[in-house]
Amino acid sequence: MNIQKTDPAVNNRMKKTRNNEKYKVGKNAQGKDMEIDVAFFSGKERAENSDASSAVKNEKIIKPVNGISAVILAAGKGTRMKSDKTKVLHEVSGKPMLAHVIDACFEAQVSDVTVVAGANIQELKSFAAARYGGKNIRFVLQNEQLGTADAVSSVVKAKIPLKDGVMILSGDTPLISADTVGFLIKMFTKKSDGGIIGVSFAENPAGYGRIVRNSEDNVIRIVEDKDADDREKTIKVINGGIYIIRKDSLERNLGKIKVNKAKGEYYLTDIAALMYAESRPLIPVDVPYRELAGVNSRAQLAEAAKIRNKKVLEKLSENGITIVDFDTVYIEEGVEIGSDTTVHPFTVIKAGVKIGKGCSIGPSAHLRQGAVIGNNCKIGNFVEVKNSTIGNNTNVAHLSYIGDSEIGSNVNIGAGTITANYDGVKKNKTVISDGAYVGSNSVFVAPVKIGKNSVIGAGSVITENVPDDSLAIARPRQETKTGWVKKRRKK
Ligand code: UD1
Ligand code: MG
Repeated sequence: MNIQKTDPAVNNRMKKTRNNEKYKVGKNAQGKDMEIDVAFFSGKERAENSDASSAVKNEKIIKPVNGISAVILAAGKGTRMKSDKTKVLHEVSGKPMLAHVIDACFEAQVSDVTVVAGANIQELKSFAAARYGGKNIRFVLQNEQLGTADAVSSVVKAKIPLKDGVMILSGDTPLISADTVGFLIKMFTKKSDGGIIGVSFAENPAGYGRIVRNSEDNVIRIVEDKDADDREKTIKVINGGIYIIRKDSLERNLGKIKVNKAKGEYYLTDIAALMYAESRPLIPVDVPYRELAGVNSRAQLAEAAKIRNKKVLEKLSENGITIVDFDTVYIEEGVEIGSDTTVHPFTVIKAGVKIGKGCSIGPSAHLRQGAVIGNNCKIGNFVEVKNSTIGNNTNVAHLSYIGDSEIGSNVNIGAGTITANYDGVKKNKTVISDGAYVGSNSVFVAPVKIGKNSVIGAGSVITENVPDDSLAIARPRQETKTGWVKKRRKK
């Protein structure tokens, strides 16, 4: 076995927290059990204190890598989701999980992307055509879902021209960032002659493969949750399902993976032990758990969405936006908000929405696709805005629906105002020009246009255009019969 030295400082630190034990790794030529020192990490020590450099064998001469191909596994049935829709197209932060993974690759300058699909191949192809149009994403069909190793084998068998470094990702790990993909590539390119694996500390590691390492920090093997014994179950360092493996090592070892008898599947994770046996082990690279969280169930989908949301809110906060309550504000990725805007609790803001500076949004506002809000606006409680622009200094403060509308600046929209944009066949536009004042509980039956500085009487149902500087009242006139009640009593 090719044992290399690790930085002694790292080793000393590790010894304090590690619980080293003998671990059987198979039989030698004489049929005797071979044992090695294994560190059963159950604490946070790796995830918090080190990066791959602690595991790196600096004295090794690493052959340079010529390019990275990404292979994204997405053929699985996703049985645990109990859904008609294929798992990887379920959305996190308004975007299909698979798109998160593809985008992370593209953003990290990995343009060679192959997706392994199964029975869902048509569904995935239509998604890719709609979302990425001309961009070339290759699809390979895995005939039967015989496990993650079989999925990767199907790419090799399809003779896809892979580059020297094969990055394998899962379509159900949607939180991975482009920065992390870039970091993993850097670690792989510089430091590994076999491969690297993204690992993480998980407070609740149930369901994940556990990383078993030796005292040199190399991965000896990965044990799936189902197959782990009590001791292995205590390991909290998990397999994040992202690997970069040298193409030759991958191709050589894939064929050696045996079927897991209990599950009838070929596990890609078994490659760790094979690579260890040929002294080109996988090197663990720490990635924060919030990027590796895998989605196998609806509950995990919610967990992933929550993690993603927190990240979005943190970023907005850093840019000078006040989010009053991180637990109840939900903002999708790709929302632009100007500084000094405050977002109050129970507000939902969808991807693509733009909000200016100094606004007050919510509580309980719902800003949907195509909403563009100017500066210093108030969008108050129970207000929904969709596909509409709202000018500067305009208030829509209470209980309104603004859809397919163009609302100018310095407009006041009274409580309960509704734009009736849908005639049952198509959507129609409402225009309310600068300086207009709309009384409460008005309905605009679109298409309709209100001129500048005009006033709409409360309770009006507006079906016709109103010119500039005019008053429109469109409600039954009030009739008051003085003394009517007294007269009735006398009868
Ligand atoms: C896998 C890993 C586990 C790791 C976890 C991280 C294996 C055996 N286990 O477990 O160690 O902690 O991911 O999230 O790899 N897929 C195919 N074809 C198949 C089977 C799966 O394409 O035949 C795809 C799935 O669509 C999915 C990905 O591979 O996107 C992972 O499969 P999944 O069944 O979710 O594996 P996990 O049980 O999560
Ligand atoms: Mg999974």
